[in-house]
Amino acid sequence: MEILFYAAGANPDAWLTSIQQAIPDASIRVWQEGDHAPADVALVWKPPAAMLRGRTELKAIFNLGAGVDAILQLGEALPAGVPVVRLDDAGMGIQMAEFVAHAVLRYFRRLDAYAVQHQAQQWRFLKPFDKQTFSVGVLGMGVLGSRIAAALQHFDFPVLGWSRTQKNIPGMTCFSGADGLNTFLSQTRVLVCILPLTTETENILNHATLSALPRGAYVINVARGAHLVEADLLTLIQQEHIAGATLDVFREEPLPVTHPFWQEPRINITPHISALTLRDDSARQIAAKIKALQAGQPITGLVDPQRGY
Ligand code: NAP
Ligand code: GLV
Repeated sequence: MEILFYAAGANPDAWLTSIQQAIPDASIRVWQEGDHAPADVALVWKPPAAMLRGRTELKAIFNLGAGVDAILQLGEALPAGVPVVRLDDAGMGIQMAEFVAHAVLRYFRRLDAYAVQHQAQQWRFLKPFDKQTFSVGVLGMGVLGSRIAAALQHFDFPVLGWSRTQKNIPGMTCFSGADGLNTFLSQTRVLVCILPLTTETENILNHATLSALPRGAYVINVARGAHLVEADLLTLIQQEHIAGATLDVFREEPLPVTHPFWQEPRINITPHISALTLRDDSARQIAAKIKALQAGQPITGLVDPQRGY
């Protein structure tokens, strides 16, 4: 088994150790410019087009993350007919649940407002929000969205879900497609975006959709920066239609120091850390899928390039 590896911005040595442990008989090499030697599978994160162009010999391309937007945007450089496989959870679901539950609870329990009072040494009671009106709407009810939704149900928040195909989840109000979006938004107090980035979902958080949320709503984006029209969010925050936002992803990462988001105290910023790829968990999942493919068995996480996720 010859494995070709490339992960933008990652430490290849640590990855190679995890992969070798999970697949002891594999020979693994880090792709370098000009390497056209054959391989059986590729393990990649944000690969350059030159790495994959023409590699029709590959049995599969494994993405070292859940989102495959950076791979699919390679377009014709992606070898035709080679399956692309995304990570299914691999330890990201619990991280997403922790991150989003923390953000929702911070808003619901008014902890941001209490932090401001702390700075001013103010001991002052704030009227609590009514949980029944503090509904959380999750855009994207896949592997990660359903885990986030389940964590919020655990805290007894009313939870709504929106996806491409209709779901039926006990205790949750589910909507689907363009027809269901406006009703979903009108009933959502905290909007969580955990959609894949596709041509259909790019710019989905825009002036029209954010205005469809009730006044005083909050926005949490843990998916991709290109889902959000950043200027529209700023306008709606300044007009106090949106009360605050928690953003983990941005159109340009790292977020430039001159970006106006840094100056807006109602926006909480984190550097794309809501769910990190865990090396050992991911290597074990990929090893199990390679084994299944070799045995001719089906695997989960196959990407549909037409659908875009
Ligand atoms: P997934 O399992 O593929 O789920 C995607 C969900 O989005 C599905 O419910 C799908 O609907 C829905 N969807 C897709 N296109 C839609 C559309 N046009 N209209 C309505 N719903 C649509 O993906 P996942 O594993 O949950 O991951 C989601 C995304 O999270 C990734 O693509 C990645 O970009 C992002 N992510 C971010 C981080 C981070 O650290 N910030 C970490 C990991 C992942 P159906 O169920 O009907 O197919
Ligand atoms: C991270 O952003 C991922 O898509 O896994």
